[in-house]
Amino acid sequence: MTHRTVHVDLPGRAYDIIIGRGVLAEAGSRIAQMTRRKHVAIVSDDTVAGLHLAALQANLAKAGLTSDALALPAGEKTKSWPFLEQSVEWLLSQKVERGDVVVAFGGGVIGDLAGFAAAILRRGVRFVQIPTTLLAQVDSSVGGKTGINSPLGKNLIGAFHQPSLVLADTALLDTLPPRDFLSGYGEVVKYGLLGDSGFFDWLEAEGPALAAGDADARIRAVERSCQMKADIVMRDETEQGDRALLNLGHTFCHALEAATGYDAARLVHGEGVAIGCALAFEVSARAGLCAQEDPSRVRAHLADMGMKVDLADIAGDLPDADTLMDLMGQDKKVENGRINFIMAHGIGKAFVTADVDREIVRAVLTDALRAKTGG
Ligand SMILES: NC(=O)c1ccc[n+]([C@@H]2O[C@H](COP(=O)([O-])OP(=O)(O)OC[C@H]3O[C@@H](n4cnc5c(N)ncnc54)[C@H](O)[C@@H]3O)[C@@H](O)[C@H]2O)c1
Repeated sequence: MTHRTVHVDLPGRAYDIIIGRGVLAEAGSRIAQMTRRKHVAIVSDDTVAGLHLAALQANLAKAGLTSDALALPAGEKTKSWPFLEQSVEWLLSQKVERGDVVVAFGGGVIGDLAGFAAAILRRGVRFVQIPTTLLAQVDSSVGGKTGINSPLGKNLIGAFHQPSLVLADTALLDTLPPRDFLSGYGEVVKYGLLGDSGFFDWLEAEGPALAAGDADARIRAVERSCQMKADIVMRDETEQGDRALLNLGHTFCHALEAATGYDAARLVHGEGVAIGCALAFEVSARAGLCAQEDPSRVRAHLADMGMKVDLADIAGDLPDADTLMDLMGQDKKVENGRINFIMAHGIGKAFVTADVDREIVRAVLTDALRAKTGG
Protein backbone atom coordinates (compact mmCIF):
# COMPACT_ATOMS: atom_id res chain seq x y z
CA MET A 1 0.00 0.00 0.00
CA THR A 2 1.34 3.40 -0.92
CA HIS A 3 1.71 6.25 1.49
CA ARG A 4 -1.45 8.05 2.53
CA THR A 5 -1.84 11.72 3.37
CA VAL A 6 -4.40 13.26 5.68
CA HIS A 7 -4.56 17.04 5.46
CA VAL A 8 -5.44 19.04 8.56
CA ASP A 9 -6.84 22.22 7.09
CA LEU A 10 -6.66 24.74 9.92
CA PRO A 11 -6.44 28.36 8.71
CA GLY A 12 -2.81 29.51 8.94
CA ARG A 13 -1.79 26.28 10.65
CA ALA A 14 -2.53 23.63 8.02
CA TYR A 15 -0.35 20.52 7.93
CA ASP A 16 -0.10 17.05 6.49
CA ILE A 17 -0.04 13.70 8.24
CA ILE A 18 1.92 11.26 6.07
CA ILE A 19 1.17 7.62 6.86
CA GLY A 20 2.84 4.45 5.60
CA ARG A 21 5.58 1.90 5.98
CA GLY A 22 8.94 3.59 5.57
CA VAL A 23 7.83 7.25 5.64
CA LEU A 24 10.68 7.89 8.09
CA ALA A 25 12.86 7.94 4.97
CA GLU A 26 11.10 11.17 3.94
CA ALA A 27 12.02 12.98 7.16
CA GLY A 28 15.24 14.58 5.89
CA SER A 29 13.95 15.90 2.58
CA ARG A 30 10.70 17.20 4.07
CA ILE A 31 12.33 18.89 7.08
CA ALA A 32 15.08 20.38 4.88
CA GLN A 33 12.34 22.13 2.87
CA MET A 34 10.85 23.61 6.04
CA THR A 35 13.90 25.29 7.52
CA ARG A 36 16.87 27.32 6.38
CA ARG A 37 19.00 26.13 9.28
CA LYS A 38 20.83 22.92 8.54
CA HIS A 39 20.58 21.64 12.10
CA VAL A 40 17.71 19.80 13.78
CA ALA A 41 17.10 19.24 17.50
CA ILE A 42 15.37 15.94 18.31
CA VAL A 43 13.64 15.10 21.59
CA SER A 44 13.14 11.38 22.17
CA ASP A 45 13.16 8.76 24.92
CA ASP A 46 15.83 6.18 25.74
CA THR A 47 13.91 3.23 24.32
CA VAL A 48 12.98 4.84 21.01
CA ALA A 49 16.43 6.40 20.64
CA GLY A 50 18.06 3.00 21.18
CA LEU A 51 15.91 1.40 18.50
CA HIS A 52 15.37 4.03 15.83
CA LEU A 53 17.39 7.21 16.34
CA ALA A 54 20.32 6.12 14.18
CA ALA A 55 17.99 5.57 11.20
CA LEU A 56 16.40 9.01 11.65
CA GLN A 57 19.74 10.80 12.01
CA ALA A 58 21.20 8.97 9.00
CA ASN A 59 18.22 10.06 6.95
CA LEU A 60 18.55 13.68 8.09
CA ALA A 61 22.26 13.58 7.24
CA LYS A 62 21.45 12.35 3.73
CA ALA A 63 19.42 15.53 3.27
CA GLY A 64 22.35 17.65 4.50
CA LEU A 65 21.00 18.19 8.02
CA THR A 66 23.07 17.75 11.16
CA SER A 67 21.19 16.76 14.30
CA ASP A 68 21.50 16.35 18.05
CA ALA A 69 19.16 14.36 20.23
CA LEU A 70 18.04 14.55 23.83
CA ALA A 71 16.96 11.08 25.03
CA LEU A 72 14.82 11.28 28.17
CA PRO A 73 13.74 8.37 30.39
CA ALA A 74 10.86 6.40 28.86
CA GLY A 75 7.52 6.59 30.64
CA GLU A 76 4.70 8.83 31.82
CA LYS A 77 6.76 10.38 34.66
CA THR A 78 8.78 12.20 32.02
CA LYS A 79 5.72 14.33 31.18
CA SER A 80 6.48 16.61 34.13
CA TRP A 81 8.02 19.95 35.13
CA PRO A 82 11.62 18.72 35.63
CA PHE A 83 11.81 17.19 32.16
CA LEU A 84 10.02 20.14 30.57
CA GLU A 85 12.67 22.41 32.08
CA GLN A 86 15.44 20.08 30.91
CA SER A 87 13.99 19.97 27.38
CA VAL A 88 13.53 23.73 27.06
CA GLU A 89 17.01 24.49 28.41
CA TRP A 90 18.50 21.87 26.11
CA LEU A 91 16.69 23.33 23.08
CA LEU A 92 18.01 26.78 24.02
CA SER A 93 21.52 25.32 24.30
CA GLN A 94 20.97 23.93 20.80
CA LYS A 95 20.36 27.55 19.76
CA VAL A 96 16.92 26.74 18.38
CA GLU A 97 15.50 29.94 16.95
CA ARG A 98 12.05 31.07 15.81
CA GLY A 99 12.48 29.79 12.25
CA ASP A 100 13.81 26.39 13.29
CA VAL A 101 12.10 23.05 13.69
CA VAL A 102 12.07 20.77 16.73
CA VAL A 103 11.43 17.07 16.17
CA ALA A 104 9.40 15.00 18.66
CA PHE A 105 10.45 11.38 18.12
CA GLY A 106 8.56 8.97 20.36
CA GLY A 107 5.20 8.05 21.80
CA GLY A 108 2.55 10.29 23.28
CA VAL A 109 4.72 11.22 26.24
CA ILE A 110 7.48 12.67 24.08
CA GLY A 111 5.03 14.24 21.60
CA ASP A 112 3.12 16.03 24.37
CA LEU A 113 6.28 17.12 26.20
CA ALA A 114 8.36 18.21 23.19
CA GLY A 115 5.30 19.85 21.61
CA PHE A 116 4.75 21.89 24.77
CA ALA A 117 8.45 22.78 24.95
CA ALA A 118 8.20 23.99 21.32
CA ALA A 119 5.05 25.97 22.18
CA ILE A 120 6.73 27.98 24.92
CA LEU A 121 10.28 28.19 23.54
CA ARG A 122 10.80 31.75 22.28
CA ARG A 123 6.97 32.05 22.41
CA GLY A 124 6.59 29.25 19.91
CA VAL A 125 8.73 27.39 17.40
CA ARG A 126 7.51 24.88 14.84
CA PHE A 127 7.72 21.19 15.54
CA VAL A 128 7.44 17.95 13.61
CA GLN A 129 5.82 14.90 15.16
CA ILE A 130 7.35 11.53 14.31
CA PRO A 131 5.10 9.29 16.42
CA THR A 132 6.45 5.83 17.22
CA THR A 133 3.55 4.20 19.11
CA LEU A 134 0.14 3.29 17.71
CA LEU A 135 -1.47 5.61 20.26
CA ALA A 136 0.68 8.52 19.11
CA GLN A 137 0.10 7.75 15.41
CA VAL A 138 -3.69 7.64 15.71
CA ASP A 139 -4.22 10.24 18.36
CA SER A 140 -1.70 12.27 20.34
CA SER A 141 0.47 13.49 17.45
CA VAL A 142 -2.57 15.01 15.70
CA GLY A 143 -4.61 17.98 16.82
CA GLY A 144 -2.15 20.17 18.70
CA LYS A 145 -2.84 19.34 22.34
CA THR A 146 0.52 19.50 24.12
CA GLY A 147 1.40 19.52 27.77
CA ILE A 148 2.56 17.83 30.94
CA ASN A 149 0.99 16.32 34.05
CA SER A 150 0.68 18.02 37.44
CA PRO A 151 0.89 16.13 40.73
CA LEU A 152 -2.80 17.16 40.94
CA GLY A 153 -3.83 15.50 37.71
CA LYS A 154 -3.03 14.49 34.15
CA ASN A 155 -2.52 16.99 31.34
CA LEU A 156 -3.43 19.96 33.54
CA ILE A 157 -0.63 22.16 32.17
CA GLY A 158 -0.33 22.72 28.45
CA ALA A 159 -1.03 24.64 25.29
CA PHE A 160 -2.65 24.17 21.93
CA HIS A 161 0.23 24.10 19.46
CA GLN A 162 -0.26 22.37 16.11
CA PRO A 163 2.66 20.47 14.58
CA SER A 164 3.87 21.54 11.13
CA LEU A 165 4.11 17.97 9.88
CA VAL A 166 3.33 14.47 11.17
CA LEU A 167 5.22 11.46 9.81
CA ALA A 168 3.53 8.25 10.95
CA ASP A 169 5.79 5.37 9.88
CA THR A 170 3.86 2.19 10.63
CA ALA A 171 7.06 0.12 10.29
CA LEU A 172 8.21 1.66 13.58
CA LEU A 173 5.34 -0.18 15.26
CA ASP A 174 7.11 -3.51 14.55
CA THR A 175 9.28 -3.01 17.64
CA LEU A 176 6.40 -1.99 19.90
CA PRO A 177 5.67 -4.52 22.68
CA PRO A 178 2.23 -6.14 22.16
CA ARG A 179 0.80 -4.53 25.29
CA ASP A 180 1.71 -1.04 24.06
CA PHE A 181 0.29 -1.86 20.64
CA LEU A 182 -3.03 -2.97 22.14
CA SER A 183 -3.10 0.08 24.36
CA GLY A 184 -3.01 2.24 21.22
CA TYR A 185 -5.71 0.04 19.72
CA GLY A 186 -7.98 1.25 22.55
CA GLU A 187 -7.94 4.68 20.89
CA VAL A 188 -8.54 3.16 17.43
CA VAL A 189 -11.68 1.38 18.66
CA LYS A 190 -12.77 4.65 20.26
CA TYR A 191 -13.02 6.30 16.80
CA GLY A 192 -15.34 3.58 15.53
CA LEU A 193 -17.45 3.78 18.66
CA LEU A 194 -17.74 7.54 18.68
CA GLY A 195 -18.50 8.27 15.07
CA ASP A 196 -18.18 5.52 12.47
CA SER A 197 -20.05 2.25 12.91
CA GLY A 198 -18.73 1.04 9.53
CA PHE A 199 -15.18 1.44 10.83
CA PHE A 200 -16.14 -0.51 13.97
CA ASP A 201 -17.58 -3.31 11.74
CA TRP A 202 -14.28 -3.31 9.83
CA LEU A 203 -12.28 -3.48 13.07
CA GLU A 204 -14.36 -6.42 14.26
CA ALA A 205 -13.33 -8.25 11.07
CA GLU A 206 -9.75 -7.00 10.64
CA GLY A 207 -8.65 -6.16 14.20
CA PRO A 208 -6.99 -9.52 14.92
CA ALA A 209 -5.03 -9.42 11.61
CA LEU A 210 -4.03 -5.83 12.32
CA ALA A 211 -2.72 -6.80 15.77
CA ALA A 212 -0.85 -9.74 14.24
CA GLY A 213 1.04 -7.34 11.97
CA ASP A 214 -0.98 -7.00 8.72
CA ALA A 215 0.76 -3.98 7.17
CA ASP A 216 -2.13 -2.76 5.00
CA ALA A 217 -4.66 -3.09 7.82
CA ARG A 218 -2.41 -1.03 10.08
CA ILE A 219 -2.06 1.75 7.52
CA ARG A 220 -5.81 1.78 6.92
CA ALA A 221 -6.57 1.95 10.65
CA VAL A 222 -4.08 4.78 11.23
CA GLU A 223 -5.40 6.68 8.19
CA ARG A 224 -9.08 6.37 9.18
CA SER A 225 -8.31 7.33 12.79
CA CYS A 226 -6.27 10.38 11.75
CA GLN A 227 -8.95 11.43 9.26
CA MET A 228 -11.62 11.25 11.95
CA LYS A 229 -9.51 13.16 14.42
CA ALA A 230 -8.58 15.77 11.79
CA ASP A 231 -12.25 16.27 10.85
CA ILE A 232 -13.20 16.85 14.48
CA VAL A 233 -10.22 19.15 15.16
CA MET A 234 -11.04 21.21 12.04
CA ARG A 235 -14.60 21.68 13.36
CA ASP A 236 -13.55 22.49 16.92
CA GLU A 237 -9.81 23.05 17.47
CA THR A 238 -9.99 24.24 21.08
CA GLU A 239 -12.72 21.91 22.38
CA GLN A 240 -15.68 24.24 22.70
CA GLY A 241 -18.02 21.45 21.56
CA ASP A 242 -17.52 18.47 19.24
CA ARG A 243 -13.88 17.84 20.11
CA ALA A 244 -15.06 16.52 23.48
CA LEU A 245 -16.35 13.45 21.60
CA LEU A 246 -12.73 12.32 21.44
CA ASN A 247 -12.93 11.91 25.21
CA LEU A 248 -15.26 8.91 24.95
CA GLY A 249 -14.19 6.58 27.77
CA HIS A 250 -11.69 9.12 29.11
CA THR A 251 -13.51 10.38 32.22
CA PHE A 252 -13.62 6.79 33.48
CA CYS A 253 -10.07 6.22 32.24
CA HIS A 254 -8.62 9.22 34.07
CA ALA A 255 -10.30 8.13 37.32
CA LEU A 256 -8.89 4.62 36.91
CA GLU A 257 -5.41 5.94 36.10
CA ALA A 258 -5.52 8.09 39.26
CA ALA A 259 -6.89 5.17 41.31
CA THR A 260 -4.01 2.95 40.17
CA GLY A 261 -1.43 5.67 40.88
CA TYR A 262 -0.46 5.96 37.18
CA ASP A 263 1.29 2.63 37.67
CA ALA A 264 1.91 1.27 34.17
CA ALA A 265 2.27 -2.23 35.59
CA ARG A 266 -1.44 -2.06 36.49
CA LEU A 267 -2.96 0.11 33.79
CA VAL A 268 -1.77 2.07 30.79
CA HIS A 269 -3.74 4.88 29.15
CA GLY A 270 -5.25 3.01 26.19
CA GLU A 271 -6.30 0.12 28.43
CA GLY A 272 -8.15 2.62 30.61
CA VAL A 273 -9.76 4.10 27.48
CA ALA A 274 -10.98 0.66 26.37
CA ILE A 275 -12.46 -0.13 29.81
CA GLY A 276 -13.87 3.41 29.92
CA CYS A 277 -15.60 2.94 26.52
CA ALA A 278 -17.17 -0.31 27.75
CA LEU A 279 -18.40 1.50 30.91
CA ALA A 280 -19.73 4.46 28.88
CA PHE A 281 -21.78 2.08 26.72
CA GLU A 282 -23.02 0.25 29.81
CA VAL A 283 -24.21 3.52 31.35
CA SER A 284 -25.77 4.53 28.00
CA ALA A 285 -27.68 1.23 27.79
CA ARG A 286 -28.93 1.42 31.38
CA ALA A 287 -30.06 5.01 30.79
CA GLY A 288 -32.07 3.77 27.81
CA LEU A 289 -29.96 5.77 25.35
CA CYS A 290 -28.69 2.84 23.26
CA ALA A 291 -29.69 -0.76 22.61
CA GLN A 292 -29.05 -3.30 25.37
CA GLU A 293 -26.87 -5.34 22.95
CA ASP A 294 -24.43 -2.49 22.23
CA PRO A 295 -22.32 -2.79 25.42
CA SER A 296 -21.97 -6.56 24.89
CA ARG A 297 -20.79 -5.99 21.34
CA VAL A 298 -18.17 -3.49 22.52
CA ARG A 299 -16.98 -5.86 25.23
CA ALA A 300 -16.92 -8.85 22.88
CA HIS A 301 -14.62 -7.03 20.44
CA LEU A 302 -12.23 -5.86 23.16
CA ALA A 303 -12.12 -9.39 24.60
CA ASP A 304 -11.53 -10.80 21.10
CA MET A 305 -8.50 -8.56 20.82
CA GLY A 306 -7.14 -9.81 24.14
CA MET A 307 -7.62 -6.41 25.73
CA LYS A 308 -8.66 -5.40 29.21
CA VAL A 309 -12.44 -5.00 29.29
CA ASP A 310 -13.53 -4.89 32.94
CA LEU A 311 -12.44 -3.45 36.24
CA ALA A 312 -11.75 -7.10 37.10
CA ASP A 313 -8.90 -7.05 34.55
CA ILE A 314 -7.01 -4.42 36.57
CA ALA A 315 -4.62 -6.04 39.05
CA GLY A 316 -4.84 -5.07 42.73
CA ASP A 317 -7.48 -3.29 44.74
CA LEU A 318 -9.57 -0.40 43.48
CA PRO A 319 -11.37 2.18 45.63
CA ASP A 320 -15.18 2.08 45.99
CA ALA A 321 -17.64 3.57 43.52
CA ASP A 322 -17.97 6.87 45.42
CA THR A 323 -14.22 7.42 45.43
CA LEU A 324 -14.05 6.62 41.72
CA MET A 325 -16.84 9.14 41.13
CA ASP A 326 -14.94 11.78 43.11
CA LEU A 327 -11.90 11.10 40.93
CA MET A 328 -14.09 11.49 37.84
CA GLY A 329 -15.18 14.86 39.27
CA GLN A 330 -11.55 16.01 39.20
CA ASP A 331 -11.30 15.47 35.46
CA LYS A 332 -10.61 18.68 33.58
CA LYS A 333 -13.81 18.19 31.56
CA VAL A 334 -15.75 19.29 34.64
CA GLU A 335 -17.51 22.64 34.23
CA ASN A 336 -19.23 24.33 37.20
CA GLY A 337 -19.06 21.05 39.07
CA ARG A 338 -20.93 19.13 36.35
CA ILE A 339 -19.16 16.29 34.63
CA ASN A 340 -19.46 16.35 30.86
CA PHE A 341 -19.98 12.74 29.86
CA ILE A 342 -19.68 11.24 26.43
CA MET A 343 -22.61 8.89 26.02
CA ALA A 344 -23.85 6.98 22.97
CA HIS A 345 -27.13 6.48 21.12
CA GLY A 346 -25.48 3.44 19.54
CA ILE A 347 -22.21 2.28 18.04
CA GLY A 348 -20.78 5.22 16.08
CA LYS A 349 -23.26 7.65 17.64
CA ALA A 350 -21.61 9.35 20.61
CA PHE A 351 -22.74 12.69 22.01
CA VAL A 352 -21.73 15.05 24.79
CA THR A 353 -23.99 15.60 27.77
CA ALA A 354 -23.80 16.86 31.34
CA ASP A 355 -27.19 15.30 31.95
CA VAL A 356 -26.30 11.81 33.17
CA ASP A 357 -28.01 10.28 36.18
CA ARG A 358 -25.24 9.88 38.73
CA GLU A 359 -27.09 6.96 40.31
CA ILE A 360 -26.77 4.98 37.08
CA VAL A 361 -23.04 5.71 36.94
CA ARG A 362 -22.70 4.67 40.58
CA ALA A 363 -24.69 1.45 39.97
CA VAL A 364 -22.57 0.53 36.92
CA LEU A 365 -19.35 1.08 38.89
CA THR A 366 -20.68 -0.78 41.94
CA ASP A 367 -21.64 -3.80 39.79
CA ALA A 368 -18.26 -3.75 38.02
CA LEU A 369 -16.43 -3.60 41.37
CA ARG A 370 -18.61 -6.40 42.74
CA ALA A 371 -17.75 -8.58 39.74
CA LYS A 372 -14.07 -7.85 40.43
CA THR A 373 -14.21 -8.92 44.06
CA GLY A 374 -16.46 -11.87 43.21
CA GLY A 375 -19.11 -10.47 45.59
N1 LIG B 1 -2.05 15.16 22.98
C1 LIG B 1 -3.08 14.38 22.81
O1 LIG B 1 -4.04 14.72 22.10
C2 LIG B 1 -3.07 13.03 23.46
C3 LIG B 1 -4.02 12.07 23.08
C4 LIG B 1 -3.96 10.80 23.67
C5 LIG B 1 -2.97 10.51 24.59
N2 LIG B 1 -2.07 11.46 24.94
C6 LIG B 1 -0.99 11.17 25.90
O2 LIG B 1 -0.13 10.19 25.34
C7 LIG B 1 0.57 9.54 26.40
C8 LIG B 1 0.61 8.04 26.14
O3 LIG B 1 1.29 7.82 24.93
P1 LIG B 1 1.96 6.40 24.59
O4 LIG B 1 1.01 5.32 24.90
O5 LIG B 1 2.52 6.53 23.23
O6 LIG B 1 3.06 6.31 25.73
P2 LIG B 1 4.67 6.45 25.73
O7 LIG B 1 5.10 7.61 24.97
O8 LIG B 1 5.06 6.35 27.16
O9 LIG B 1 5.14 5.12 24.96
C9 LIG B 1 4.86 3.86 25.53
C10 LIG B 1 6.15 3.03 25.66
O10 LIG B 1 6.53 2.56 24.37
C11 LIG B 1 7.91 2.83 24.11
N3 LIG B 1 8.04 2.98 22.67
C12 LIG B 1 7.63 4.04 21.92
N4 LIG B 1 7.79 3.76 20.61
C13 LIG B 1 8.32 2.52 20.53
C14 LIG B 1 8.69 1.68 19.45
N5 LIG B 1 8.50 2.05 18.19
N6 LIG B 1 9.20 0.46 19.74
C15 LIG B 1 9.35 0.06 21.04
N7 LIG B 1 9.00 0.80 22.10
C16 LIG B 1 8.48 2.02 21.85
C17 LIG B 1 8.19 4.06 24.92
O11 LIG B 1 9.56 4.18 25.21
C18 LIG B 1 7.36 3.82 26.18
O12 LIG B 1 8.06 3.00 27.07
C19 LIG B 1 -0.17 9.89 27.68
O13 LIG B 1 0.62 10.80 28.41
C20 LIG B 1 -1.45 10.56 27.19
O14 LIG B 1 -1.92 11.54 28.10
C21 LIG B 1 -2.10 12.71 24.39
